[in-house]
Amino acid sequence: MENRILGQRYELVEQLGHGGMGTVYRAHDHRLRRTVAVKTLSAELALQPEFLSRFQREAHAAAALNHPGVATVHDVGEDASGGVAEPYLVMEYVEGTTLSHVLKGGALPPAQAADVVGQVLEALEHSHRHAIVHRDIKPANVMLAGTGRIKVVDFGIAKALSEVATRLTGTGVAVGTPAYLAPEQIKGGDTDHRTDLYAVGCLLYELLTGRPPYTGDSPFSVMHQHLTADPVPPSRLRPELPPAVDAVIVRALHKDRADRFADAAAMRTALSAAARATPPAPVPTPTARDPRAGAVVPAAVASPAPPDEVPAPRPARRRPGRVVFRPTAEGAVALLGCLLSLVISRSDVMEGSAFSRVALLAAVSGGVLLLWSARLACAVAWGPVAEAVAVFSELARSYIGWDTKYVILALMLGVAAALCLAAGYRDERAGGFALVAFWFTALTALWFFLDDVRKVGVFYVLLLGVPLAIGAQVLKSRTRPPSPVPSAGPHAAVPHVEAAPAGRRRAR
Ligand SMILES: Nc1ncnc2c1ncn2[C@@H]1O[C@H](COP(=O)(O)OP(=O)(O)OP(=O)(O)O)[C@@H](O)[C@H]1O
Ligand SMILES: [Mg+2]
Repeated sequence: MENRILGQRYELVEQLGHGGMGTVYRAHDHRLRRTVAVKTLSAELALQPEFLSRFQREAHAAAALNHPGVATVHDVGEDASGGVAEPYLVMEYVEGTTLSHVLKGGALPPAQAADVVGQVLEALEHSHRHAIVHRDIKPANVMLAGTGRIKVVDFGIAKALSEVATRLTGTGVAVGTPAYLAPEQIKGGDTDHRTDLYAVGCLLYELLTGRPPYTGDSPFSVMHQHLTADPVPPSRLRPELPPAVDAVIVRALHKDRADRFADAAAMRTALSAAARATPPAPVPTPTARDPRAGAVVPAAVASPAPPDEVPAPRPARRRPGRVVFRPTAEGAVALLGCLLSLVISRSDVMEGSAFSRVALLAAVSGGVLLLWSARLACAVAWGPVAEAVAVFSELARSYIGWDTKYVILALMLGVAAALCLAAGYRDERAGGFALVAFWFTALTALWFFLDDVRKVGVFYVLLLGVPLAIGAQVLKSRTRPPSPVPSAGPHAAVPHVEAAPAGRRRAR
């Protein structure tokens, strides 16, 4: 059977899905020879007076948007081949899945949810700057590509439809599911960019908890809650979420638009600050406590909600010696370093029983320290491994002499080592990786510049000094007193956030 062709140009190749307003197809644009997505709207809509002109007007406005987070609108038209004018919209074809599909697998890791919502807010910043309000932000209208980038689809459609719905039902409610409808949409009042921010608050809520803020047996019950109820704070459903994330959602979900974030940029800033206060998601390998747990992180929520709505955080008592098993990639790398050091100490890769004993000591102490800090374990365990590799490196001055190009190479390795050491010292979250890189670059450079006796001496000094410095830094960061509250404007009611371990966060 031949594929249907709309407007003598768009060949409908495959049906991608069916929504409340029509059907979406993957199509081939014969004129520009590219793949596009075509959304055909139900023919009943075309029977509504003025619908087509409204639809075209909104689609033309949406076509002005040009942003990587927005599925571009290419064309709009109507096909009369079936006897009735069937409106259709041609847009950029997005390869990926909708967030509603992603949500079938449950809530997202907090960092990913914040990243996705941050991207949606970036797209909305752009559209709001062009005075275009989406009005139907929901998981089915956000597509996630394999690269992790998102695209918001259906710009311009909801507005045209809500105008029709307003005339059909007396309100603009007939559009979409009620899970994300802002109170002003339910009341049929004016909408503006803050209506989208309400929906983004609902989206963030669902991505973090796996359910929308309000659920009920009927659309009416859900709408009633949008108008009157306060949402259950997401941290009650997912205890590892910090109060700063609750604060962002509560602010976005205010019934009164004036109390929400002023614009998408303000919400994005608040969200990214709140996300920094969220402990990183675990990965399945055994290791030490998250170094940020227990550290005080300022929640630069641009203008948090009033104090009666958002519980402000309370500094939890820090116990620097507390051991928590939390699998991380950094812990796995530290564990690998311990195993390699152990293997080296047991083998005859290196001459000299002193080095074997040092490698054994490094392996054992790395394993013990791993219970406390993966970063510190990396600082100890990878030294002997890198030393053994440097010994067999071809970049040894005794073989190649003072050739300028090798001197430059060794100098650059030295500079890289210094930068890696600084990064390893400063980065409390993933500094272990930088420290592994430090050992390899530093020891290779050392082997070039120093003679035999000195290089072994310097290696032992580094093997003692670097873990001591990192250990002192870890201890300091875990016993640091709560930092003062950064003021964030007249509503700065949430002073700072305690990124405590899952289930142990408390609020002041
Ligand atoms: N631009 C696009 N590129 C690729 N696939 C798309 C595109 N737009 C929509 N789709 C796919 O088509 C499906 C149906 O989209 P559609 O917008 O009709 O449904 P919906 O968003 O669930 O409902 P609504 O009608 O309320 O918007 C989506 O779930 C998505 O998989
Ligand atoms: Mg849609």
